Amino acid sequence: MAARRLAEHQPDSFAFTAENRAWAEREIAKFPPGRQASAVISLLWRAQEQEGWVTKPAIEGVAAMLDMPQIRVLEVATFYTMFHLEPVGSNAHIQVCGTTPCMLRGAGELIDVCRRRVHPEPHHRSADGLLSWEEVECLGACVNAPMIQVSKDTYEDLTPEIFDGLLDSFRRGERPEPGPQNGRQYSMPITGLSSLTDIQYAADDVRPARKMQAAGRRKTNPGDAGGIEQRDWSAEYAGGDTLERASERQTGEARERSGGRDPATRSAENQEAGRVDPAGRSDEAAARSSAGGGKAQSVADTHGSGPRNPGPQSDRDTNDPGKGR
Ligand code: FES
Repeated sequence: MAARRLAEHQPDSFAFTAENRAWAEREIAKFPPGRQASAVISLLWRAQEQEGWVTKPAIEGVAAMLDMPQIRVLEVATFYTMFHLEPVGSNAHIQVCGTTPCMLRGAGELIDVCRRRVHPEPHHRSADGLLSWEEVECLGACVNAPMIQVSKDTYEDLTPEIFDGLLDSFRRGERPEPGPQNGRQYSMPITGLSSLTDIQYAADDVRPARKMQAAGRRKTNPGDAGGIEQRDWSAEYAGGDTLERASERQTGEARERSGGRDPATRSAENQEAGRVDPAGRSDEAAARSSAGGGKAQSVADTHGSGPRNPGPQSDRDTNDPGKGR
């Protein structure tokens, strides 16, 4: 990735609109006194939404609002590729992920499409000024590679043909539905479920709130601010038990392993008698482990005799090959 520098040609000044300034002040007020610098990314992002890119006067303006040295704000703006440091396409700036998983899955062909349909070079606008592109590092959707990002949206599972269609939409000023473009949901297998196929509702799991609303369904957890339908997996993992029954069953099994006594009582007894090894295990657990000999044995033996030296318990130094050299 090329060095990220401020554009050569800059506007003379920057000022938030009244609405954006009011929003920025509310944003700053979310942080305790003296910690207003924490709002730097949100303010830079709002400046970019307003201007289309992050200008030098905007960086200076944000620094003044947050009482930060300008160099600190400049560092943030030049570090994150989400901030555009020069004018970009007015309809869309396309960021193509060129990191290994995406490259192995065809990112190079997407870049070829950008060169052919937007501009031969990154960081240049198309002849109509509507589009621009650049290559960026991993955008965190590797399981849906190859992918692109436009502003806050990611478009995944792309082919050159699908990407061509997306470019047409961006050029028309449309904003297509983000996410996987090959029909699969999130990163689920395109061929259908390959595991947990015997779970009754596996194909009908967590779904976005908008789909639920469309289906007229109610969230099972009204307190879930994320708008995601919650499903009680734990009962299913417990073999069909209710949560209470699963818990009782597990407690019973633990009691059995503890010789009929309550596991918590047994643990308290161990600790009271000092029968807890340096790793915090019961004496039985330490003994089981030490039965393997070697380092574990030494750990168990040093119990009660004060601190022991940490690190390798053989004669080698740190992780060198020891006598094998
Ligand atoms: S490698 Fe492309 S999103 Fe991670």
